[in-house]
Amino acid sequence: MIVNRPPMGWNSWNTFGENINEDMIKEMADAMVEGGYLDAGYEYLVIDDCWAELHRDEKGNLVPSKEKFPNGMKALADYVHSKGLKFGMYSCVGFLTCAGYPGSYDHEFQDAATFAEWGVDFLKYDFCYRAITVKQKMLYRRMGLALEGCGRDILFSACSWGRDETEKWIQSTGAAMWRKTGDINDRWGTFHYLADKVMDNITSCSRGCFGDLDMLTVGMNGKGNVGQGGMTFNEYKMHFTLWAQMNSPLMIGCDIREADEETRKILLNKDVIAINQDPLTAMPYNIEHYGGWNNEGVKIYVKHLSGGDLAIGIYNFSEEEAPCIVTLDLIGLPPSTGKTLRVKELWTGTEKTVANGVLRTPVGAHDCKIYRCKVIDI
Ligand code: GLA
Repeated sequence: MIVNRPPMGWNSWNTFGENINEDMIKEMADAMVEGGYLDAGYEYLVIDDCWAELHRDEKGNLVPSKEKFPNGMKALADYVHSKGLKFGMYSCVGFLTCAGYPGSYDHEFQDAATFAEWGVDFLKYDFCYRAITVKQKMLYRRMGLALEGCGRDILFSACSWGRDETEKWIQSTGAAMWRKTGDINDRWGTFHYLADKVMDNITSCSRGCFGDLDMLTVGMNGKGNVGQGGMTFNEYKMHFTLWAQMNSPLMIGCDIREADEETRKILLNKDVIAINQDPLTAMPYNIEHYGGWNNEGVKIYVKHLSGGDLAIGIYNFSEEEAPCIVTLDLIGLPPSTGKTLRVKELWTGTEKTVANGVLRTPVGAHDCKIYRCKVIDI
């Protein structure tokens, strides 16, 4: 299945872990529509691990937990589809999933057929309990092939945590997105660690196979399965902006039934989402800090947008406000071009024209700025 934009949706793991059930999932589907999330682009509702019975049936089929999902997955998929959403599920390359439920190892074609029969549109495929005798890429190819032939369009979301140089082989598996890192937790330390891992190694995060930086923790505020103290509003804003600019899939992980205004302000920022969903799907790149003015903790990224626009993101991971300088020469606009930028900061709406070839702005500690920029005559 060819995917032209980073997939967007909601996933049960970050907040609910194994505490999932049919009623909660239906309420989440309602909230995705009534809260304006579907309209903003979040279309996949994904049930992560822990949905199955511990054992397959006598024919070897996966069985949904009778207690958590008493009406089975087909009925739930029908409900999700009736809301205009797409329905996602989870399995694993190994004989068990990460949480110890049956995995799809040696059942790939059978399980793909089951998912198709249930009306599944998205499959997250994890990396635990894998057979060490089979190369990891073969395990993803098996399921990729099974999904392609199952008679239904199912988006294949690989979750191999960037292991075994995933970026080198993932496009041979049919996956539309691939997890670049280990798991996120809802705290600054983990966010910073994951960001560091991906920021200087921007690989395969474009059309057809997007690099997945893991589900968003925005709005968790320390609550739920991976809640570990939470982050501030500016830190969540930075997390969302970076994921958006890096072309990561945007999968919400908080309980949107209870989202507060600050959370909604971040998750539903249409201008920032537009940077993520831009039709050009260009790879972002990073630029040097000019003349030592920016301290070590500041990272600057640029992404080309359709129609000749640019997105410039400035991320301050340090503990102090930093005076940041973006030199237009470094993005292809030396003064000799006779061009400069008209920029709009997408969290404040502030606009200005860049003078003298340098965009100067202070950026607070653990904060960011993201500009949508138009090239104009000086
Ligand atoms: C792994 C994945 C997580 C989540 C859990 C479920 O850790 O990386 O995203 O799916 O498994 O057990």
